[in-house]
Amino acid sequence: PEAITVQELANRMAEKGADLVKALFKMGMAVTVNQTIDQDTAELLVTEFGHNIKRVSDADVELELETAEDSEADLQPRAPVVAVMGHVDHGKTSLLDALRGSGVAGGEAGGITQHIGAYQVTMKDKSKITFLDTPGHEAFTEMRARGADVTDIVILVVAADDGLMPQTIEAINHCKAAEVPMIVAINKVDKEDANPQRVRERLLEHEVIVEEMSGDVQDVEVSALKKTGLDELIEKIQLQAELMELKANPDRAAEGTVIEAKLDKGRGPVATILVNRGTLKVGDVFVVGAESGKVRALIDDHGKQVKKAGPSMPVEVLGLSGVPMAGDPLQVVDSETRAREVAEYRSSVLHQKRTAQAPASLESMFSALK
Ligand code: GTP
Ligand code: MG
Repeated sequence: PEAITVQELANRMAEKGADLVKALFKMGMAVTVNQTIDQDTAELLVTEFGHNIKRVSDADVELELETAEDSEADLQPRAPVVAVMGHVDHGKTSLLDALRGSGVAGGEAGGITQHIGAYQVTMKDKSKITFLDTPGHEAFTEMRARGADVTDIVILVVAADDGLMPQTIEAINHCKAAEVPMIVAINKVDKEDANPQRVRERLLEHEVIVEEMSGDVQDVEVSALKKTGLDELIEKIQLQAELMELKANPDRAAEGTVIEAKLDKGRGPVATILVNRGTLKVGDVFVVGAESGKVRALIDDHGKQVKKAGPSMPVEVLGLSGVPMAGDPLQVVDSETRAREVAEYRSSVLHQKRTAQAPASLESMFSALK
């Protein structure tokens, strides 16, 4: 369906329009410079003139670098990545705090989560769980749309006094679309007007049938404030994780996903990366989205500098050329030249896409033409 005028194509190839007309004539097509030709003919011409065709599409921009698959023998168990979702003020941050035994929510401006926090908590039995605190679901929807679903399990937090609210339903829909298993944490059961049973009943309307209602979605009553039900919640997370047999190869060049990124006044661009596989180390050269870099420092969720980060571990990474986007893949590559090339290519493609006026695919199809 895409077409391009002969002149336009000539411009992109830095050839004379008349020469293209001549070549087309030899191919048995009588056209003028102002007439359009179809994509196949255009491609033919491009090769005829000795140029390389570089097809550029959305898919290519999202495309990760080719990397080797891991063999089954190299896989080792990894911690589950658990996202805490739910309506505003239903107690996501409080619950996370209770689970990690610290007090971040109290220190937040107005108690509202400003960013996506990522923490790894070591349980009594030494097993680990990685938690992601989500301020809104947009970042996650965006990440999923870009094919970067990092979440293994979702804890849906529903306040027992408030019940199902718009963002609760949004989170339910997100889980269903992403096919991520959900555990319902009915929070604030310490409150006088708490009605956990009503929450379970309302969940039925959204086809979420919890265990208490003879379904297979795990549910648990908790109070982040009084710290009740927490052990049971952890057990349910661990049970779910066991069923999933989550594994990754820690002994390879690291790959990860940007959870959040910002420009820090003192430290420059900083990205929180969740390592998906491999081990990220200080000194590693990487490409992340349309940026590149060399790991200058890795900082764990306690603010401590660490030398490396393995699968399921969230770390802050310093040493980036710029600020990437949430959901961008990070990949360690073997040379700085390669990292820069890939980053530059991606950013030029992104730039093309943003400035393209003409039908995107043809416009970009020849964007890399030299
Ligand atoms: P956003 O990040 O703004 O979406 O909120 P959130 O879901 O993280 O809620 P947050 O943890 O900030 O808690 C909101 C309010 O509910 C705070 O005032 C908490 O003290 C209170 N709260 C949280 N959990 C409980 C609970 O189990 N019982 C009672 N009574 N209050 C709670
Ligand atoms: Mg919060």
